[in-house]
Amino acid sequence: MENTLTWLDDYLIGIDAVDKQHQFLFELIDKTLKCKEKTELQLALIKLYKYTREHFNDEEALMRDCGYAGYEEHVKQHNILISELNHKSKIALNNLEERNNLDTFLVNWLVIHILEEDINIGDFLNAPFSN
Ligand SMILES: [Fe+2]
Ligand SMILES: [Fe+2]
Repeated sequence: MENTLTWLDDYLIGIDAVDKQHQFLFELIDKTLKCKEKTELQLALIKLYKYTREHFNDEEALMRDCGYAGYEEHVKQHNILISELNHKSKIALNNLEERNNLDTFLVNWLVIHILEEDINIGDFLNAPFSN
């Protein structure tokens, strides 16, 4: 069965700019999952890696700007995800038969990170007495 990643509105965190970036990440991941050849996969992974870094940088700037208390821990999670993406990409590109591990990671990390971490930034910013 082919892996896919589909956006659901349950993943909205209530910050428009962030939600748009998350939706674009879903598209990039879905395209990556559908790559069959090595060169194609490599290009998709480079694109995904770059955009993920961009997204993390933007999200970290937003957390700093609003004085988000969980900043340090959240940045740690971002760094772990980036190095995991890097590591699993290398293994998969070395041997396409080993890409299961990468695909499982791709299907899960963004959804889990949004629902467990990013959602808290949304709640913080949208709390009735914030700012
Ligand atoms: Fe995040
Ligand atoms: Fe995010």
